Amino acid sequence: MALDVSELQTIEHDVLVIGAGGAGLRAAIACSGQKLDTGVISKSLLGKAHTVMAEGGMAAAMGNVDPRDNWKIHFRDTMRGGKFLNVWRMAELHAKQAPDRVRELEDWGAVFDRTKDGLISQRNFGGHRYPRLAHVGDRTGLELIRSLQDHGIHQGIDFHMEVTALELLKDGDRISGVLAYRRETGRFVVFRCKAVILSTGGGGKAWPVTSNSWEYTGDGIAMAYDAGAELMDLEFTQFHPTGMVWPLSVRGILVTEGVRGDGGILKNNQGERFMFNYISERFAPETAATVEEAHRWLEGDKNARRPPELLTRDEVARAITAEVKAGRGSPHGGVFLDIASRRPADFIKRKLPSMYHQFKELAEVDITREPMEVGPTLHYFMGGIRVDADSQQTTVPGLFACGECAAGLHGANRLGGNSLSDLIVFGKLAGDGAKAYIQALPTTPRVDGDQITSAIRRATEILNRAEGENPYLLHARLEETMARGVGIVRTKNELETAVAELEDLKVRARTMKAPGASQYNPGWHEALAMRSLLVTSEAVTRAALMREESRGAHTRLDHPDENPEGLTYNVIVKKAADGRMETEKRRRPDGPPHLVAIANAKIEDLEAGKLGTAAPST
Ligand code: FUM
Repeated sequence: MALDVSELQTIEHDVLVIGAGGAGLRAAIACSGQKLDTGVISKSLLGKAHTVMAEGGMAAAMGNVDPRDNWKIHFRDTMRGGKFLNVWRMAELHAKQAPDRVRELEDWGAVFDRTKDGLISQRNFGGHRYPRLAHVGDRTGLELIRSLQDHGIHQGIDFHMEVTALELLKDGDRISGVLAYRRETGRFVVFRCKAVILSTGGGGKAWPVTSNSWEYTGDGIAMAYDAGAELMDLEFTQFHPTGMVWPLSVRGILVTEGVRGDGGILKNNQGERFMFNYISERFAPETAATVEEAHRWLEGDKNARRPPELLTRDEVARAITAEVKAGRGSPHGGVFLDIASRRPADFIKRKLPSMYHQFKELAEVDITREPMEVGPTLHYFMGGIRVDADSQQTTVPGLFACGECAAGLHGANRLGGNSLSDLIVFGKLAGDGAKAYIQALPTTPRVDGDQITSAIRRATEILNRAEGENPYLLHARLEETMARGVGIVRTKNELETAVAELEDLKVRARTMKAPGASQYNPGWHEALAMRSLLVTSEAVTRAALMREESRGAHTRLDHPDENPEGLTYNVIVKKAADGRMETEKRRRPDGPPHLVAIANAKIEDLEAGKLGTAAPST
């Protein structure tokens, strides 16, 4: 039967933001604050975003707890944490602008924990030289979302909840809209707009053990790829060192790094504080060498170096994996995280209330008395859609991306707490970028009926075919493939096997079948999500195969060291004209000399302002 697209519901906005986590909300606020008609669509209900899984805080060099901190030291930490593969300009913008974005959140109603002097309190986190994470107990992401939502709603943004974007629409090269569907009714909606901002997060649901919830199926990354945008750095997938491991039903749920930031330590089944055995050369100068020194740090001695539990996430996750592999793991395949012996119960309940309740209710463990069992969980994509640093525009005109689905800021490994500040810094810049783009648009882009018709056919053939593959079984198979072949450590053979399995899954996915109609049909949602998961998983796997070295979160057992050549390129993934996925090593621009000098400077020189003033200017 022929489709009449004029009968579809059509909604017009100047800008459509896809995703209502921190980045999407901040981008929408930037757009609507500049008088653009702004809509936001989100797959689930407002307030439900992976942003809430950044529990421990947002990193910003405000110097409230240690006045030695400044943007240059934050920038340097971010580059070192990212193993120098970060986009220099993004790391600079982020470090300079994060403090203003945090203060602005406070103006909009975020209720941060305070220092004794009434300033926004800041806590320690892995890889950050000083206490830098502005926080609200261990619910910082939630408070960020709440504040942005309140502000955005009062600013007149239109929210369309439980709506899933399916395909980006284009007029020639330019973005002209989005085809989406209402999850409840299955009805299609055409959004016409001049610019789209993607803020859809990563694709962690391709792995069986993940902190990501059901929404994180890489939709934005896959849509951008299909629309011709370039992807970058996808080989870098972050395994947060501490997810719950027991009971099985909650395996992967995040245990905030704030536990270690506030003094928690890691032990193996021999009771040994094993992280002292895993201090790499790069971080040795700034890491406590003995338990005594780490203890002095906890007591507030400013001359003591940070404990090894606060090494970067890639290092801690690998250490835990090695301990478990060596037979020194906890009963359920993790290690022990102990804060009970380090802090009094009232401190733990005040600073880590969610962790206290999470373990009490889900695992029947009282963390004020007993250690937690924890292990690595897939948490975050450092790579994603390639964007211009200042405007966040992708390689497709009118298409912007920010937050986790965009690449560049974090390089090979993200520091904890840099995600929330990423969202608010680059969310705003994406909104500003979209405004500038729209102002310069000569004509309003046209929506093409044929494109809509084919996109609807592609979505509905899953319902219409008589029989076919079960999307849930394909998803389970995908998880097995990614866990086996594309985990914390990888080899050429395993990655090649994963590519072959993904090719097979792609063929099978062409004939997925969801029984029933489009209303209230979870099987159909699952099948549509699988299309995105397969694109993102293939991009991660092919990029991981191409990078023949170990750097940050990407560990190749067959290439165990960093290779200096690895710093000279990014792995770019794009769709070739014949529909195949293409990967290429693209030469990275050299870092600007003034930033290279800061990244390599001695910390004492940066504290003393020896490389020029630390005052931010963009
Ligand atoms: O551990 C955490 O609270 C997570 C923070 C983050 O991913 O930035």
